[in-house]
Amino acid sequence: MRINENTVLRGKKVTLVPYSPAHVPRYHEWMQSEELQRLTASEPLSLQQEYEMQRSWRDDADKCTFIVLDTERWSEQARGDEECMVGDVNLFLTDTEDPTLGEIEIMIAEPSYRGRGFGKEATLMMMSYGVTDLGITKFEAKIGQENEASICMFKKLHFKEVSVNSVFQEVTLRLDVGDQERQWLLDQTKHVKKKSYIEEKLPAGLKQGQEIIPRSKDDTVQGDSTALLSPPEGY
Ligand SMILES: CC(C)(COP(=O)(O)OP(=O)(O)OC[C@H]1O[C@@H](n2cnc3c(N)ncnc32)[C@H](O)[C@@H]1OP(=O)(O)O)[C@@H](O)C(=O)NCCC(=O)NCCS
Repeated sequence: MRINENTVLRGKKVTLVPYSPAHVPRYHEWMQSEELQRLTASEPLSLQQEYEMQRSWRDDADKCTFIVLDTERWSEQARGDEECMVGDVNLFLTDTEDPTLGEIEIMIAEPSYRGRGFGKEATLMMMSYGVTDLGITKFEAKIGQENEASICMFKKLHFKEVSVNSVFQEVTLRLDVGDQERQWLLDQTKHVKKKSYIEEKLPAGLKQGQEIIPRSKDDTVQGDSTALLSPPEGY
């Protein structure tokens, strides 16, 4: 969906940014991993298909996705997103009759970042965004039965197991967000700052739409800041 196409959510460990074409090559590399394909029940795609998928994530009204970045690395000057990517987090509106139900998925793709609180913070931030900006009041997570880490994490986040599909070897966990859960979620994420992606990507001092003056003759000139969000030629 397009609602978050210019949204940055900045947390302590993770920063969530909209999935843009610039993220696709790294994402595509991650998804070559058989372990990640198994854990996320995904099929490998070609690079071209991955660009198409990115476009559908952005355009389809029933999908919201953010790329998870390492906040500390991203805060360092001159670091591009690709160098800071650690995973992604998604919400699907799976029930056309009930737009308040969101299926959540999280992947910390970089093994060295697992078990350090990145998945938990990213999931909480997405849930909070879902509740405040998308009107979600119920979350579901479908997880492979053998994925102990993910099941444990969602249980820590107050999800309860509601069903097991023995054919797909998958459990469904669910959280209904009443007043108390909503308050808990907002408390867990009160440190999160919401910002504009385009402004965050621009060098300090520049305003959106303003021309970027090259600092040296080797710098690339971009007259339109929205070019940062465009795919490479041919896609
Ligand atoms: C599952 C995943 C999202 C967890 O994210 P993470 O950053 O590694 O987890 P966190 O460090 O934030 O831990 C959060 C909670 O998860 C649980 N957890 C994390 N790793 C665990 C492990 N190896 N075994 C058991 N529980 C684990 C713990 O309950 C932990 O809470 P605690 O730190 O308070 O004890 C991440 O490991 C991952 O993406 N793995 C590969 C892809 C995947 O499985 N995606 C989910 C598909 S449904």
